[in-house]
Amino acid sequence: MTIPFLDLATPHRELKEELVELFTDILLSGRFVGGPVVENFEREFAAYCNVNYCVAVGSGTDALRFALMASGIERESIVLTVPNTFIATTEAISQAGAIPDFVDINEQTYNMDPEKLRDYLETHCVWDAATLMPVHRLTQRPVSAVIPVHLYGQMADMDPITDLARQYNLKVIEDACQAHGAQYYSSLSRQWETAGSMGVAAAFSFYPGKNLGACGEAGAITTNSEELAHKARMLRDHGQSQKYCHELEGYNGRMDTLQAGILSVKLRYLDDWIARRRQAARWYNEFLEELEEVITPAESALCKSVYHLYILRTARRDELKEYLTAHNVDVGLHYPTPLHKQRAYMGRQFSYSAYPVTEKVCREILSLPMFPGLSRQDISFIAHLIQDFDYDEKTSPLYEPHDLTGSPRSE
Ligand SMILES: Cc1ncc(COP(=O)(O)O)c(C=O)c1O
Repeated sequence: MTIPFLDLATPHRELKEELVELFTDILLSGRFVGGPVVENFEREFAAYCNVNYCVAVGSGTDALRFALMASGIERESIVLTVPNTFIATTEAISQAGAIPDFVDINEQTYNMDPEKLRDYLETHCVWDAATLMPVHRLTQRPVSAVIPVHLYGQMADMDPITDLARQYNLKVIEDACQAHGAQYYSSLSRQWETAGSMGVAAAFSFYPGKNLGACGEAGAITTNSEELAHKARMLRDHGQSQKYCHELEGYNGRMDTLQAGILSVKLRYLDDWIARRRQAARWYNEFLEELEEVITPAESALCKSVYHLYILRTARRDELKEYLTAHNVDVGLHYPTPLHKQRAYMGRQFSYSAYPVTEKVCREILSLPMFPGLSRQDISFIAHLIQDFDYDEKTSPLYEPHDLTGSPRSE
């Protein structure tokens, strides 16, 4: 039995008729960028996220960059996020003219720890009454925004984050690239809120492997601000307010018509796919929760995760990864190296010398296969392999005993 990490072919086989019809219509319409198909998807996705506006763009990275720029963050200001995310989050901060800095994550949820955000604002910043912004003590830069990343499909703890942001005048941009349809119960609004509706803006990725994936690159910004949506529309289209009327220098960051059409078709199935992912997660939990050597994902009572990824943790991660791969189960690492340790940021000073929770978690996490078509039988097969794995270092066949000088024993 071989189990892939992700199955992108089956949903396309199932939707083939609808998708081919759509593809033919767009091919014959001769309209390949923008137009009513894109506008229609924008309306549908805004409604899905429970916001007033959606701006369809070329990728999740575009969405983050344009959302930051359109929200009016100051150049050279600090934007806070977590080191346990994909580099697109910090690339967008730098490309928007700001400086990324990090706060650590919570060990249960793997998302931004609001207490560490508070600690950052209280110990690393002073309040500037003239600009009404926190200013970083060492660099004297203002802190303008925070990007909580809803990693693996579970929303960050948004109430305390938005509360701190209000106190410190920070803009909140959600990185919802892995969290289409995820929900969070806000005790401030006393209702379930949808990912993409809790900040001044949010960014989504429709990269093919995402829960709502295009057949190529695509992304979107969601917001309730008409002004922000208007700026983002200009930024994605060379700064144009109308054809050849450039209000600012922008980018080529529009969504292809074809991708928008495909996303409209797939959006109708998203809730069903999410339900199937949640069922797959329940099956994994049922088989693995009692196993002492692993930690299954903690879904906060305040969250409904959409399980973009199912993350297992174990001290013997590398060995378990090798063992599952050898037994034809594809697994992944999200992410093996925290951002502050990436070569791209070598020589950069961040506010903390270490991010211990991120660093620990990065050594232990393993992403198991997760997609809507996983059956109970598939999961039982994977889980039994995980149960049968020898977690005792000394007796594991993958364990290579070392002598006291540290060199591998030759026999
Ligand atoms: C957390 C996160 N942020 C941003 C992005 C960037 O999205 P894209 O690849 O569509 O540019 C991704 C996509 O992988 C992501 O997972």
